[in-house]
Amino acid sequence: MTEQYKMPEGFLWGGAVAAHQLEGGWQEGGKGVSIADVMTSGDKDHPRRVTDGVKQGEVYPNHWGIDFYHRYPGDVELFAELGFKCFRTSIAWTRIFPNGDEDEPNEAGLKFYDDLFDDLLKHDIQPVITLSHFEMPYHLVTEYGGWTNKKLIGFFTKFAETVFKRYKGKVKYWMTFNEINNQTTWDSPHHLLQDSAIKVEEGTPGMEEMMYQAAHNEVVASAKVVQLGHQIDPEYQIGAMIAMCPIYPLTANPKDIMMAERAMQTRYWFGDVQANGEYPSWLPKYWERNNIHVDVTDEDRKTLMDGRVDYVGFSYYMSFTTKATDDNPDYVYTESKDLVDNPYVEKSDWGWQIDPVGLRYSMNWMNDRWHKPLFIVENGFGAYDKKENDGSVHDDYRVKYFHDHILEMEKAVALDGVDLIGYTPWGCIDLVSASTGEMAKRYGFIYVDEDDLGHGSLERSKKDSFAWYQNVIKTNGAEL
Ligand code: BG6
Repeated sequence: MTEQYKMPEGFLWGGAVAAHQLEGGWQEGGKGVSIADVMTSGDKDHPRRVTDGVKQGEVYPNHWGIDFYHRYPGDVELFAELGFKCFRTSIAWTRIFPNGDEDEPNEAGLKFYDDLFDDLLKHDIQPVITLSHFEMPYHLVTEYGGWTNKKLIGFFTKFAETVFKRYKGKVKYWMTFNEINNQTTWDSPHHLLQDSAIKVEEGTPGMEEMMYQAAHNEVVASAKVVQLGHQIDPEYQIGAMIAMCPIYPLTANPKDIMMAERAMQTRYWFGDVQANGEYPSWLPKYWERNNIHVDVTDEDRKTLMDGRVDYVGFSYYMSFTTKATDDNPDYVYTESKDLVDNPYVEKSDWGWQIDPVGLRYSMNWMNDRWHKPLFIVENGFGAYDKKENDGSVHDDYRVKYFHDHILEMEKAVALDGVDLIGYTPWGCIDLVSASTGEMAKRYGFIYVDEDDLGHGSLERSKKDSFAWYQNVIKTNGAEL
């Protein structure tokens, strides 16, 4: 189908993954145990469990991923065939500092990423790198209490400094913390471990306060790392990474509007701090009313202002909807209980609301609020795929999802003037789902023959969406 829009010259089309969801090799090359290594598999009805260390008899899908650690050269060939200009992945912190608090980095881990980046660059694909994508050293959780401990700022800064120096000249675009605002779901032990590195049982008192302290320490760490990166290489572009799910009011009832506004403030203050350099006024007031104590020093405030990000990377999969209730006069937004179905949009098999217009809306909203270039570093459709005997997969549903979303993205750029650096669809090659640990929830243009238990030939084959996306890149978005 031919559309009327085209992206600007130099637009970074590509694909996105994260180390822990595809590398496997969880004990290779001196790698330490990460928080992803203690998360069991689950499915859409059963949440992943967090175990007390690695336990025999449990299933940990991130231990094997899709064996990218050994097979990446073949996968990079396929990315090159797709025409990727960039490839977003993360550096597993545990390959560089296995426990997180060592004095010296692990050379085998550094070499692995040198080789991967060299291979990408050989194919004219630039690496786009997230420093921390749900995969920090587990040792920092058990020994230090995760991000509630200010010592982690130092450990993270050291990790960042090491890789900023090592990969200078190979990487230009960096992001600090993946989906830092997922901590909004602080009452889920899975999210609290994944995003704040805090390990507690469900229902532990004070979880919200712990999250706010952890999140504050993370935004400070991020701001320090932005400044450090610019000193190491002024060319570095260092971004935030926000999970963008715009939250709509269910009706035009002013109370629903206020509830949705507070929900947006609660979910996106992270971006306010990282892009604007200061806390929005409502949040300290909220802490005060709710007896939440967060240690924010004057020095921290200065660091936040001096370490504003260069751009905002974000993921976009879906929109949310909320409504006010009589028992909540202060409009406190608790993500696990305040979301309702939107009657105007459909859902995926995992209940994720499909809303392409929400992408254009979000881009406008962020553009007006944060005044930074944007980078769509995740977008995609998790679905059950059926591989035919000849290896083909007819994923017209995925093509439709991408068509509709890319079109809205193009409108935001062409009609609304949003400055957009690039677009990297999530899970360009099938990988382990972050929320459920399944392989069955597939996103890729490239199919990987592997089931939820890690069984299969691991052979890669092209889905129908492969040729479709290849042409989108070739025509710079003119043909969708
Ligand atoms: C984002 C994460 O939440 O969405 C990815 O940054 C994740 O790590 C992706 O995989 C899709 O979510 P899921 O749960 O379907 O894998």
